[in-house]
Amino acid sequence: MTHSPIASLETFRALLAAYRLPRVIVTALELNVFTTMGSGAWSVPKLAQALDVSRRGLDILCRNLAMCGLLIKRGKVYRNTPFSATVLNATHSKYRGAYLELMQRQWEDWSQLTQAVRSGCPLDRDKPDSPAYRRQFTWAMHHRSLDVAARVTAGLDFRQASTLLDLGGGPGTYAMAFLARYSKLKATICDRAAALDVAKEIAATHKARKRLSYLPINFMDEAIPGQYDVVWYSNVLHIYSPEENQALFRRVHSALSRGGRLIIQDAFLHDQEALHPEEASLFAVSMLLFTERGNTYSLRETAQWLRAAGFVKVRPVRMKKGTEDWDGGLLEAVRPAGR
Ligand SMILES: C[S@@+](CC[C@H](N)C(=O)[O-])C[C@H]1O[C@@H](n2cnc3c(N)ncnc32)[C@H](O)[C@@H]1O
Repeated sequence: MTHSPIASLETFRALLAAYRLPRVIVTALELNVFTTMGSGAWSVPKLAQALDVSRRGLDILCRNLAMCGLLIKRGKVYRNTPFSATVLNATHSKYRGAYLELMQRQWEDWSQLTQAVRSGCPLDRDKPDSPAYRRQFTWAMHHRSLDVAARVTAGLDFRQASTLLDLGGGPGTYAMAFLARYSKLKATICDRAAALDVAKEIAATHKARKRLSYLPINFMDEAIPGQYDVVWYSNVLHIYSPEENQALFRRVHSALSRGGRLIIQDAFLHDQEALHPEEASLFAVSMLLFTERGNTYSLRETAQWLRAAGFVKVRPVRMKKGTEDWDGGLLEAVRPAGR
């Protein structure tokens, strides 16, 4: 847990009031504060005029943004930090706008949690998965995973592998990071066509794009063609039910070459009661809000499903602290060499 257990009104109040700073930040994003400030120095009256907001409101907003380290305050003048001037600034090449947009929208989505708990159904249940939504989401995944993919791939040894399937690979951020690291590897990104269109745009300037191919299928309904030395299943396990994942594991087993490896990256729960880490428990709430049957799972139960599907040598992959996407978030399983 990132905080003390709630056992008093003080700890309860402190935890409940934690929404305040995120709300300040969401408002700053909605008002384009960081993009408008760019690399300049701004007084509150000048910035209020540029943003068309009240001086009083902006004064209090900026003070709080400076308090949490998103702005620098010197006397009456504010400026962006190196982080907010780049990652949060729409005019900068390091801008991660698609992911910021996704996080911003979640404020409204999480406000409807009571309804989702009542119904057990996702908020947008009646809306089909449109290509426009899939495109925005895929860019968001790229903006989310870009830095962490470089770190995670550095911790995995694929020297013996010639072929890799990035199953539910979305923008292909991981596939491309693997290709950049292993010059003999060929990778296939499997996803929906709208997601693969984004992957192709991203790969267009990538040196290794000739070693990349695309598989536009629904892997839950269709057979997985081909044979791969590695299947990389990252941030997809949580979208599906235990039964769906178990059925998929059996099909992935057949799509692996003998001795080939399935590596799952996800927000795994680690303790006996499947409550921790906090991030993995809270991620299940996102799955309630946004998926029909998704959830987060313990390492232990996922390992059981893998063994039942015929995998051996099922083990967590230990990474250096701070290099992972999720705390203890990697599980490896091998298709036996002899069968
Ligand atoms: C949360 S994203 C993860 C993207 C990437 N693997 C990563 O770790 O950043 C899940 C991806 O799985 C894809 N996906 C989920 N179910 C799928 C299915 N049945 N067939 C094809 N793609 C699917 C989604 O379209 C999406 O791109």
